[in-house]
Amino acid sequence: MKTKVLLFSALALAFSSMAQSENRESTDLVIIGAGGAGMSAAIEAHNQGVNVILLEKMPFAGGNTARAEGGLNAAGTPYQKAKGIEDNPELFFKDTMKGGRNINNPELVRILSEQAKDSIEFLKINGAELADVSRAGGASVDRIHRPVGGEPAGSFIATALIKKVKALNIDLRTRTSATDIIKNDKGEVTGIKAKGKDGNVYTIDAKKVMITAGGFGANFDMIKHYDPKLVGFKTTNAPGSLGEGVKMAESINAKLVDMEYIQIHPTTVPGKGILITEGVRGDGAILVNEQGKRFINELLTRDVVSQNILKQPNAHAYVIFNDALVKQNKTIDTYFKQKLVFEGDSVEALATAIKMDPKQLSATLAAYTGYAKAKKDTEFGRESFKQALDSGKYYAIEVTPGIHHTMGGIAINTKAQVVDNQGKVIPNLFAAGEAAGGVHGANRLGGNSLADIVTFGRIGADEAVKEIKAGQ
Ligand code: FUM
Repeated sequence: MKTKVLLFSALALAFSSMAQSENRESTDLVIIGAGGAGMSAAIEAHNQGVNVILLEKMPFAGGNTARAEGGLNAAGTPYQKAKGIEDNPELFFKDTMKGGRNINNPELVRILSEQAKDSIEFLKINGAELADVSRAGGASVDRIHRPVGGEPAGSFIATALIKKVKALNIDLRTRTSATDIIKNDKGEVTGIKAKGKDGNVYTIDAKKVMITAGGFGANFDMIKHYDPKLVGFKTTNAPGSLGEGVKMAESINAKLVDMEYIQIHPTTVPGKGILITEGVRGDGAILVNEQGKRFINELLTRDVVSQNILKQPNAHAYVIFNDALVKQNKTIDTYFKQKLVFEGDSVEALATAIKMDPKQLSATLAAYTGYAKAKKDTEFGRESFKQALDSGKYYAIEVTPGIHHTMGGIAINTKAQVVDNQGKVIPNLFAAGEAAGGVHGANRLGGNSLADIVTFGRIGADEAVKEIKAGQ
């Protein structure tokens, strides 16, 4: 009898430790979220010789990055120099702080403005050269870098990074969600729990954990909680932008910052939330209300332009451009394909197509052409004129503001280490990209999201690798 009991206990022990080892593995760095920040971090860390597991809850990598259109802000790049654009990190810093209404964390903005140009180089090395430079709202100079021809920058970058992640054989696990971050008694992060494709939950012991799971721009409950005024707005965000990374960090006492600042982008398609890139205005388009009148300098910051569109009759407007502009900006091809564009061979024909007073629209365009040629807009103070809009064909897209970016998120320091509610670093935990807060303050400038995700993704990876190698 005694022998039988012993045998049974030994078998039970063997089974239980088998089950445990099946549900448990270990690595150096686990990264939660395979958007632009996560993939940049994974590539950077892998290239420095550490083992990485990159998790993505969606069926494919890319996240919100794959939806970004405009480009990446960087100051002092060879591409700016080649075009004779004088820019520097100080000016980039000032523009970003001003755009964020000066509540941004200045230390993070300093890093962004100084190091974004290295992110341009990183992307070039990894197959995504952004050699064209244009203007975005709130920028004092042309600073937003994009692929030559103006195709959507986000999908261009995401495609290149996915290719690189695969070429490097980085362990990318799609349809796999992190469910918990694990901390030990000393308050150090020691790994995560994840739910795999098969629905089973397993533990990954990791020396370092990085959260790059994006913002919460598609989580309408969180939007309502943090800014109830936005109930009813559509979103430009990928469906995966549900804020789980932010919530997981909050649940282990990470500090959250600026959560109430949610950006509405001025130009999204009513009822659909499709983004019409600011790049169209940067390349020379204007905005008119349904009466055919301009009402603002189209290149002010997004918060200001959005609020002014909302004040127009029926809270909408039209982006107006012409053939010459279409040739500069390949992203517009995607709007034609989606049948979002009204057109006319003349200004009058376009006005008729959008049920607008032809005389008023002609007068508006004639006045604008004068400003563009004189490079002085005496009505609204616009300073960047890439097109005079004095020849057809003419085009219009109807727009209204939509939810675009969540500025708030997990508090980080300049090494992308996560900070707790007592202001202390949570050992072994990093965050970057839209999951993190503080870089953009109350309002993000167009082009600063791609700059943020690649820059802080890489910085977090560098610090994690350094600590791993130092045995910390
Ligand atoms: O308008 C846009 O293309 C958006 C760019 C951004 O959010 O940075």
